[in-house]
Amino acid sequence: MSVLQPETSTTREVFPTCPELALVEDTLYRVLSKSRGIIKDACCNLVNAGGKRIRPLLTLNSALCFGPLNTDVINAAAAAELIHMASLVHDDVIDKAETRRGKPTVNSMYGNNAAVLTGDYMFAEAFQILATHQLLPSMGYLVEAIQAMCDGEVNQAQQLFDHSVCTERYLCRIAKKTGILLASCCKAGAATAGATPEEVTALGEYGLNLGYAFQIVDDILDFVGESAAVGKPIGGDIVSGNVTLPVIILMDNPIYGDWIKQVLGSQQINTAGVESIKCALMGAGSIDKAYQMAARCVEKAKASLEKIPASPYKTALLQVADLVYSRQA
Ligand code: IPE
Ligand code: IPE
Ligand code: MG
Ligand code: MG
Ligand code: MG
Repeated sequence: MSVLQPETSTTREVFPTCPELALVEDTLYRVLSKSRGIIKDACCNLVNAGGKRIRPLLTLNSALCFGPLNTDVINAAAAAELIHMASLVHDDVIDKAETRRGKPTVNSMYGNNAAVLTGDYMFAEAFQILATHQLLPSMGYLVEAIQAMCDGEVNQAQQLFDHSVCTERYLCRIAKKTGILLASCCKAGAATAGATPEEVTALGEYGLNLGYAFQIVDDILDFVGESAAVGKPIGGDIVSGNVTLPVIILMDNPIYGDWIKQVLGSQQINTAGVESIKCALMGAGSIDKAYQMAARCVEKAKASLEKIPASPYKTALLQVADLVYSRQA
């Protein structure tokens, strides 16, 4: 029988934790413990395995910049993490991924049908929380994020192995896949705490730019990360044809540009192929250039908070931005 209890996780300590996060964890455990059978097993495995919890951390800190803790903020933060976890379960079906948070994925343990339904169940739990507590602005922001995620995933599927993908199209895709959800978490937190419309917009800008940096670093780590640290397989993006920033930068390189386009054109990249692409990315400085773009996004994120009054919570948001750049997990 499944038990909901946190395990020691390699990824949990990436961002500074805060005492309020424990209240979000309690809410997650409480809502997911109502589930049954395979869905309960799958939810327990995922929530127990940890994860960085950056989305609820953003919701909490964004709220605490403007007012004291209240139950609405905790509920909005729990809903944000549930939506994120649902999207991970569905993403692993799309990407045929076998590990997540250092554990076997739901699709690899129970099959794709069970994974689709587990993700749907988590989405439903998130909306039950938002509806029960009448968190309408948060619901609006999070609905927008789910719609954008679907759109971003469809764009990605339509551009597999496509060597005409440019930085602009890539940025548009990652805003939809990742940035808008991070922006929504921040806006939901700020709005729940009574921030002004200008302040909500500023927090949204911070979240969006943080999201760009977060996905760029995720895409870099897919080439140069340690599988044990990130808790998921490495090299999967290029094998499945997902053309990400390091490869887009390499396509402009005078030495490697034509070569990488031919490799993509073959639509068949094996483990040895991933290794040669990794060598080319390092040799051509494409990883460094991708990191430089992530650093610019981090700086833009931090600048978005300029007019927000100083507080320990604003300091935490600034610190999270730096950690998004330097994270190894
Ligand atoms: C993974 O998100 C999906 C992306 C947007 C890259 P995280 O890296 O935040 O996953 P967890 O929650 O820590 O497992
Ligand atoms: C982000 O993209 C996925 C979502 C928006 C859910 P990835 O496919 O790169 O995420 P990981 O690397 O599997 O976590
Ligand atoms: Mg994916
Ligand atoms: Mg994936
Ligand atoms: Mg990835």
